[in-house]
Amino acid sequence: MEKFVVHGPCSLNGEVTISGAKNAAVAILPATLLVKGKCHLENVPDISDIRAYVEILEALGSKITHISKNELIIDNSNVNSAIASSELTSKFRASYYLLGSLLGRFDKVQISLPGGCNLGARPIDQHIKILEKLGATVEVRNGNVYASRKDTLKGAPIFLDMVSVGATMNAILAATLAEGTTVIENVAKEPHIVDLANFLNSMGAKIKGAGTDTIKITGVKELHQVSSYSIIPDQIETGTFMVAAAVTKGDVLIKNCIPKHMEPITAKLLEAGATVEEHADSIRVKMDKKPNAFTVKTSPYPGFPTDMQPQICILLAMSNGTGMIVENIWESRFQYTDELTKMGADISAHGTTAIVKGVDKLYSAPIRAHDLRAGAAMIIAGLVAEGNTEVYDIYHILRGYEDITSKFASLGANIEYVTDEEK
Ligand code: EPZ
Repeated sequence: MEKFVVHGPCSLNGEVTISGAKNAAVAILPATLLVKGKCHLENVPDISDIRAYVEILEALGSKITHISKNELIIDNSNVNSAIASSELTSKFRASYYLLGSLLGRFDKVQISLPGGCNLGARPIDQHIKILEKLGATVEVRNGNVYASRKDTLKGAPIFLDMVSVGATMNAILAATLAEGTTVIENVAKEPHIVDLANFLNSMGAKIKGAGTDTIKITGVKELHQVSSYSIIPDQIETGTFMVAAAVTKGDVLIKNCIPKHMEPITAKLLEAGATVEEHADSIRVKMDKKPNAFTVKTSPYPGFPTDMQPQICILLAMSNGTGMIVENIWESRFQYTDELTKMGADISAHGTTAIVKGVDKLYSAPIRAHDLRAGAAMIIAGLVAEGNTEVYDIYHILRGYEDITSKFASLGANIEYVTDEEK
């Protein structure tokens, strides 16, 4: 079994460079299927979710050349299958983007029901509704999703029942090559939505309004190859280092990020008493005292991201008062609080709300990464805690954070990667 051993406590100081955005990359890789040619992608994060996507695409017939660990050329000229390996697609959530992208190119598509972090119910009714509105037939049977179309997809007006990142991405993917105009309302506005639209527009798509509540897509007959596209920096990786810098009373310059994307997190760090300096493409976070307590409520962008909720909880756990977290996106995102309680945190979580009373110290304990972002929070807790904190189930963390141990090491942390073989 593999684990991280985090030697705490420590204060983070220095510079760290952010990788490409996971949640943009997992939509852009399948989006390349819409072009019968080559796409040259830069700033692709080297994480296990991307390696899994590369495997899925290769199994469909893509030829993928690794120029470097963060630069790929994907040639989809010879993709001839739209039946994705169920073993691979069932492992992670973002495999559902194959529905929209493959249906743009093929008459019949099959994927497995997507897996991913266990955050409570994760229905795909909005994805299905979108494809049906565009003229497809969708069936969910025996753990698989089957989508088919008799003719080309046809543009249509679509109103999403709730703001969904994945459904917005799938609508964009499916409507890009559809005949006519699609207007999607009540869409998600996350930076990765805008990045997907920019990527497709760079190949000749006609997508307007990404980043607002309404997206209009005028279908085009075909897309052309793209000579080079650089994926945006990861908002959540940036936020993770911002919180880690503040809670360890450090001073960290976070490079290759987009400060505008960080505003909801910056606002909470300022409330906590940190100093946050914004530069053109970097942010410096400094903190030299115990954090003030605050209330945080998750909501779709530009609100406070649910994917930063576990990390910000560590700041509250070490605060000088009582704070509150209200989780409005996922129904089971507080499972990680049991792990923090083992370390001496004072947290009472019920339903959508957690009350967090600040304590003076956390102490090491064997803890689990319940999901990707909770895993990042466990590392931050280990950096604050007295002693050696063992973090298990770290495969969740490796899904979404590139070189996490060496990035923290460059800031003065000591995190060992240990496998049974090395014991
Ligand atoms: C994306 O998930 C992210 N994943 C998640 O990040 C993130 O937590 C989430 O957006 C919210 O920001 C990827 O981008 C790959 P949603 P997604 O559809 O698209 C409900 C991480 O750690 N809903 O915006 O699956 C749903 O239950 C991951 O990187 C429906 O009811 O999230 C939820 O309550 C974890 N029906 C809400 O909408 C649907 O058809 C928002 O979900 C779709 C969603």
